[in-house]
Amino acid sequence: MPARSTPTARFDAHTALEALPAFHAQIAQWYAKCGRAELPWRNLARDGSQSYEVYISEIMLQQTQVTRVLEEFYFPFLRAFPSLQALADASEQEVLLRWQGLGYYTRARNLRKCAQICAQSHSGALPRGVENLKKLPGIGEYSAGAISCFGFGESVGFVDSNIRRVFSRLFALSNPTHAQLQSLATKLLNTKDSFNYNQALLDIGALVCRPKPLCLICPIREFCQGCSAPHRYPQRRPKPRESLHLRLFVIRFCQSHKDYIALLTPEHDEAHLARTRPQPRSQSQLYAGLYNLPMHATPLHSAPAPSAPPLSPHQHAPHPLRLAGHFKHAYTKYAITAEVLYAQCTDRQAALGLIDSLSFDTRENLAFVELDSLPTLPLSSLSHKALKISHLVL
Ligand code: ADE
Repeated sequence: MPARSTPTARFDAHTALEALPAFHAQIAQWYAKCGRAELPWRNLARDGSQSYEVYISEIMLQQTQVTRVLEEFYFPFLRAFPSLQALADASEQEVLLRWQGLGYYTRARNLRKCAQICAQSHSGALPRGVENLKKLPGIGEYSAGAISCFGFGESVGFVDSNIRRVFSRLFALSNPTHAQLQSLATKLLNTKDSFNYNQALLDIGALVCRPKPLCLICPIREFCQGCSAPHRYPQRRPKPRESLHLRLFVIRFCQSHKDYIALLTPEHDEAHLARTRPQPRSQSQLYAGLYNLPMHATPLHSAPAPSAPPLSPHQHAPHPLRLAGHFKHAYTKYAITAEVLYAQCTDRQAALGLIDSLSFDTRENLAFVELDSLPTLPLSSLSHKALKISHLVL
């Protein structure tokens, strides 16, 4: 095995295959000592019989940190939907409720669709093989590889954003294509123990070869062509977020000692969503499947919409709208600046009058919901923040 400081071990086209056994050994040693082998989704059967649990973990981990998935979401979700069949039988609302807080809700809708397809066409189980898995909604090349390897014990290499960073630095690649990286994943794979090797690569990417890397403790430093300037690899691809200014309305009234607020109920019309998604102007276009406060969207630099209410306390109006606060919120590709307006109306009629005066383009989806029932509804984080600012939820 090469000494840790020997630069000759670095991979290039000629030495890569020769250095592979040493590379695998270093990774295996490091994983045994520093890896997160105890993670629950790493301690499941590898014969396909627990591929559902692996699948759920991989979809959750796509855009969410390990600790959040572990502490808040993985076990409650599996308790609610203990099998692919249970997920297939659940309503979209139930699934979204359990996904609440994880964001990127398309993942949750796809989980359910995928479960329904498997229930109908694959005898209630996930199919084996990368190509079959890739045909299912929400399962791309990365997830298919990870599910195949971790759930079915297959020897498959794959690339997620962490592994992309590791390989880009290892080979000093500023702007590698996905095909290039996938080819490296296949060539470098430790076929004798692909499960632990792949889990280890994910850990090296998450714990050591981070955006700000810890090269001094890296187990594969001696093979790395990018370690003298790791920040150069891969080149950053900043995702420009589109600015969106939203005005959210908390419209409330009390009747028979019960508190109600106006909420937009989820939009289920997929065709409508597909038509309107590129230019979201309302919640139904932004947040399919989730409950939301009624809102107006205005481009950040444009004049206020003609129907927008005044922002200062409105002394003479029958239902004073007052400014409850502002906050910023990131959602998919949007950088949202939200303004929360609050109105305590005298009764239902007054609340309806206020709603009509605000000309929401989603008026038909508006309903009054009892405040006490909020915990049972899948509510967007955006609306949850607005209700928090208004002191209506914790
Ligand atoms: N990210 C994606 N898949 C993962 C896994 N199996 N363990 C830890 N982090 C991950």
